[in-house]
Amino acid sequence: MLIARRRGWEIPESRVTPESAMLNRRGLLAAAGALSIAGGLKAYAEPNPKFAAGRDLTEEKYATTYNNYYEFNDSKSVSKEAQALSQRPWTIKLEGMLKDPRTIDIDDLMKQVQTEERIYRHRCVEAWAMTVPWTGFSLAQLLKIAEPLGSATYVVFETASDKTAMPGLNSPFYPWPYQEGLAMDEAANDLAFMVTGLWGKPVPPQNGGPLRIALPWKYGFKSAKSIVKITFTDKRPKTFWEGIQPSEYGFWANVNPAVSHPRWSQARERLLGSNEMVPTQIYNGYGDFVAGLYEGRKSEKLFM
Ligand code: MTE
Repeated sequence: MLIARRRGWEIPESRVTPESAMLNRRGLLAAAGALSIAGGLKAYAEPNPKFAAGRDLTEEKYATTYNNYYEFNDSKSVSKEAQALSQRPWTIKLEGMLKDPRTIDIDDLMKQVQTEERIYRHRCVEAWAMTVPWTGFSLAQLLKIAEPLGSATYVVFETASDKTAMPGLNSPFYPWPYQEGLAMDEAANDLAFMVTGLWGKPVPPQNGGPLRIALPWKYGFKSAKSIVKITFTDKRPKTFWEGIQPSEYGFWANVNPAVSHPRWSQARERLLGSNEMVPTQIYNGYGDFVAGLYEGRKSEKLFM
């Protein structure tokens, strides 16, 4: 049922980052930007006000040291180990139903896209959440470059599987490589964002460097890290967690506080850092952007 409600980011004034802190942060980011451009990294981009998250930013030290990255291990402490994943050279294969299947180098790709910063909320299916400034470009821009055929209905993201750097790949329990997917209309949505930076710096390996996706209206497991292959297809892919436990994790995985995980409630979420518990919102508060995508899909399991 659609009811009139505040947009997710319209929250009480008391919860918004004070302006002085924002100005300070901008100053720091501008300095970081100048530095990284001088260093040839060009990770800094202008923040896009359309995507203001309406929550305090999570402190960087928490967002970059509490991670899910099963290719390394299944604890949250992968940040040291993940440095073993080399970030360059890095290529992305474009395969399947597209005009010209090919492999592109990430730096060549970066020359063809317009980058920006977006502050997004991120809600893990495990009921923790963070709010972070990603840098990157819309997936829509990548779709234009890839030129999928009109008959393609899904896009699949396959992520790095480097056995020398990633000890978790030796675990036979998991159906490697990690794979996630979207319907094409979801992929074309304004919110779907290819991430190359975090806090104005290249996104660190533990957060999915050098190229990940951010889909803030879906549970975090949809946001594949360290992408090496993008395939266009007319068949819905079996995604990583769906393959492991289909009764608990599905293809759509949209955030909904009213639909519990079989083993825990999704009504509230814990903010990384403060550990404050706050109510979870449908589509993680991004319903104005994405609710329309699901109008014709009501018979699907949209929220697991
Ligand atoms: N991508 C890969 N390749 N491997 C993973 O284990 N974990 C997912 C997602 N992407 C994962 C992945 C899960 S469960 C979450 S919640 C987010 O990454 C975590 O992103 P973060 O560590 O940047 O917060």
